[in-house]
Amino acid sequence: MAVAFPVHRPRRLRGSEALRSLVREAGLSPLDFVYPLFVCPGEGVRVPIESMPGVCNLSVDCLVEECREVAGLGIPGVIVFGIPPRKDALGTGGYEECGIVQEAIRALKREVPGLLVIADTCLCEYTDHGHCGVVEDGDVVNDASVELLARTALSQVMAGADVIAPSDMMDGRVGAIRAVLDQAGFERVPILSYAAKYASSFYGPFRDAAQSAPQFGDRRSYQMDPANHREAMKEIRLDLEEGADMIMVKPAMPYLDVLYHAKTALDVPAAAYQVSGEFAMLKAAARNGWLDPERSMLESLLCIKRAGADFILTYFAKDAARTLA
Ligand code: PBG
Repeated sequence: MAVAFPVHRPRRLRGSEALRSLVREAGLSPLDFVYPLFVCPGEGVRVPIESMPGVCNLSVDCLVEECREVAGLGIPGVIVFGIPPRKDALGTGGYEECGIVQEAIRALKREVPGLLVIADTCLCEYTDHGHCGVVEDGDVVNDASVELLARTALSQVMAGADVIAPSDMMDGRVGAIRAVLDQAGFERVPILSYAAKYASSFYGPFRDAAQSAPQFGDRRSYQMDPANHREAMKEIRLDLEEGADMIMVKPAMPYLDVLYHAKTALDVPAAAYQVSGEFAMLKAAARNGWLDPERSMLESLLCIKRAGADFILTYFAKDAARTLA
């Protein structure tokens, strides 16, 4: 490379949009997105979430309507979170046959059958203390929580969920869920594990939406330390060994190094979750006129793709699909 310039002039390939499009390395399509949704009790309910403009808590009937629109935009799948009518210490609303998410899944598979329904498997929306498992002596106990999570996953699959996505970060939950599903004859249902999920401040708006903020303490004894990279690779490897079919890195933009490394080192299907706080930041800046709404949205998503995501869970799914159309 001693004579790099003037032989090499990288700008040659940037001279026109036609040329740029031929050498572009990553691209976006509505097929890259999964849209997260919050389902709540009632009928005709559509409660806007203040910190997530355009996102609402939806009753099952409104959820179905919303999902028809999502499917119509060419988005292949949704992930559903439930807001139960009652919460208790063991999060029983999460694994009832007629729980809110189970009802939502049944309705979606009946009314919008082509749309992939991913069930988020966690207890934090269903426990009165807001933690992702069973609490004893002020901390979440691992193995008892795993048992309830496996029960939750099974109830979601029995309701018709196409994919199970455990987001709790307990040790061993992927293996336990796999075993329970296989035993019940659901060996074909894939697991998308939230493998590298960090204890992030960027989940704030989600916890308003799902009313799932921990009532004491925080999630740092089970979600990962934002400082750690090597540990993320370990978590991802363990989840793959336990039978995860796809892995996820969450949040997305602040953790692109982890996504890139996982993708290049392990070469497995990988998702990234552009979380509520990432969405809220971009929306807020756009609303203030500080960022161009469409360009910043598409750039954020494109960069997540470039870093290695096969697909992106994003609250921008509908907006981005419309913009890309
Ligand atoms: C449940 C769960 C959370 C998110 C996805 N699944 C919240 C949390 O761990 O506190 C966050 C998603 C977002 O911020 O958009 N455990």
